[in-house]
Amino acid sequence: GDPSWLKPRGAEQRNEGLRWLREDRRAQQGADIQQGVVYFADDDNTYSLQLFEEMRSTQRVSVWPVGLVGGMRYERPVVEGGKVVRFHTGWRPSRPFPLDMAGFAVSLKLVLENPDACFDGDAPMGFLESSFLQGLVTMDELEPKADNCSKVLVWHTRTEKPKMKREEALQAQGLGSDTAVEV
Ligand SMILES: *[C@@H]1O[C@H](CO)[C@@H](O)[C@H](O)[C@H]1NC(C)=O
Repeated sequence: GDPSWLKPRGAEQRNEGLRWLREDRRAQQGADIQQGVVYFADDDNTYSLQLFEEMRSTQRVSVWPVGLVGGMRYERPVVEGGKVVRFHTGWRPSRPFPLDMAGFAVSLKLVLENPDACFDGDAPMGFLESSFLQGLVTMDELEPKADNCSKVLVWHTRTEKPKMKREEALQAQGLGSDTAVEV
């Protein structure tokens, strides 16, 4: 019933950012100018500077936990043996990439190699990130950062009291977030 959820927000702005990068960086050939990491930041998040150190080494797509998001203390990729095997999220874990926009970064090289990858502004709620990432990687290829996704370095603060609805629902099933993770 909330009109702000009828369509994904920011799809066109992010696609314009991708378009600009592709145009600008393809025109300027050379190894250096095509090196970099693309991250979709937002003004209602809070960032540890450490996050930007973590994402520097992104080869294709890197991922990490996001705090105070999705009605949870945190959402995160679950890492076993250094690989992402599933996702800790309170809502539709079966989505192709159940990641928040703040929870991943993409190498510029991969963006340039996949000129059609973009955000689908008509994607159903919660599938915007998946619509972009599906054209770029498989779960198997994700690169976990922040100590194998055990550290929270970005928070969806929104300057309001966090909602914990999903956390409480999962806790009731004994599946709540690890309380050892500092949020
Ligand atoms: C992540 O996990 C892998 C496999 O268990 C391990 O080899 C690696 O050292 C860990 N990395 C960090 C940064 O903790």
